[in-house]
Amino acid sequence: MNQNALLLFILCIPYVTYGIEFNYPAVFNFGDSNSDTGDLVAGVGDHLDPPNGQTYFKGPSGRFCDGRLIVDFLMDAMDLPFLNAYLEALGVPSFRKGCNFAAAGSTVLPPTQYSVSPFSFGIQVAQFFRFKSRVLQLQAKSKRFNKYLPDEDYFSTGLYMFDIGQNDLAGAFYSKSFDQVVASIPFVLAEFETGIKKLYDQGARNFWVHNTGPLGCLPQNIAKFGTDPSKLDSLGCVSAHNQAANLFNIQLHVLVTKMQAQYSDANFTHIDIFTIKSNLIANYSKYGFEQPIAACCGYGGLPLNYNSQLACGLTKTINGSSMTTNVCNDTTEYVNWDGIHYTEAANQHIASQILTGKFSDPPFADKMPFLLNLRF
Ligand SMILES: *[C@@H]1O[C@H](CO)[C@@H](O)[C@H](O)[C@H]1NC(C)=O
Ligand SMILES: *[C@@H]1O[C@H](CO)[C@@H](O)[C@H](O)[C@H]1NC(C)=O
Ligand SMILES: *[C@@H]1O[C@H](CO)[C@@H](O)[C@H](O)[C@H]1NC(C)=O
Ligand SMILES: *[C@@H]1O[C@H](CO)[C@@H](O)[C@H](O)[C@H]1NC(C)=O
Repeated sequence: MNQNALLLFILCIPYVTYGIEFNYPAVFNFGDSNSDTGDLVAGVGDHLDPPNGQTYFKGPSGRFCDGRLIVDFLMDAMDLPFLNAYLEALGVPSFRKGCNFAAAGSTVLPPTQYSVSPFSFGIQVAQFFRFKSRVLQLQAKSKRFNKYLPDEDYFSTGLYMFDIGQNDLAGAFYSKSFDQVVASIPFVLAEFETGIKKLYDQGARNFWVHNTGPLGCLPQNIAKFGTDPSKLDSLGCVSAHNQAANLFNIQLHVLVTKMQAQYSDANFTHIDIFTIKSNLIANYSKYGFEQPIAACCGYGGLPLNYNSQLACGLTKTINGSSMTTNVCNDTTEYVNWDGIHYTEAANQHIASQILTGKFSDPPFADKMPFLLNLRF
């Protein structure tokens, strides 16, 4: 079938109205750096240096990436604008089509003194409550806010997205044994369930939950926990971290299934990010990448190009000499951006895999016309 015939074929599939409905008027997102569009840097008054943002935004955009995140590609596919960060006050941010509460470094469990982000899941949910009540107040007061704020019914018809848990697991490995990390998972998920329940009680009905990725394949974790080769699996990833991620994901999936049964008037979609990312790292060349593990932006050169003392974009005096990170010439050859986060090219691949519907439960392959919105 040539391309035109394929397009015609797709256009002729009658629009199916069962399954997941993608006509969301707004998206409310919760999470960590995997989907932070500027919240942490605005909230703690920090900044990200170039080359962050170089690929798409032509400068730092508050995202820990060279360009767009998975959530940006998903918004684009849903024909919605990129989400503004809740804590971004400048630039007349519009929240009409949703709001992003995700902040880099955030955990599900409440923050500790070592936390990068004070905006744990419970705080993000509280911020949402405050956002919602403020929106309703302002909308009642004057029509002129309508351009920037969601309508009341968007809170029940909008999509609530979640990608959080990675920092609970990865952070725990610094002070806990594997068994202790695994033992903490039910507490993390109990806190997650509490937040979801609060959102449900406030009228949220459409939930979209990402599971966590193969943490053991991140240069940050390999550099710290994988110096002994016996700790690594066949891909060069830290086995313990990936096992913990797997155990977290199994329990998360059980929880999402349970909540779907419990809240029968709501729709829960579970997305298996772990499988998509692992497949990308294992079969990188098939997807057009050249480096599955090494950071594009970092310090130290291959195999990891990662040094925990020197984050992407920084120049520092370390051990008496000035050191600066290097950045790869072609970010599309790299899966990993800065040792912790994925490149825009990888995020684009992951988003396109999500949109096949094959990694979601329930699957939404019957929504193929939706793919016509792809504008990568
Ligand atoms: C949930 O999905 C069903 C179809 O599976 C749909 O009829 C219903 O409207 C959806 N519920 C919400 C709250 O969107
Ligand atoms: C890599 O690709 C092969 C062949 O398609 C597949 O069997 C395997 O599961 C993939 N690896 C991962 C980790 O997904
Ligand atoms: C600085 O020196 C310490 C001790 O020798 C070493 O462990 C560390 O890796 C050095 N840092 C860099 C960036 O080379
Ligand atoms: C980038 O390309 C230049 C010129 O081809 C080369 O000298 C340099 O080593 C490359 N840098 C990296 C990080 O690959």
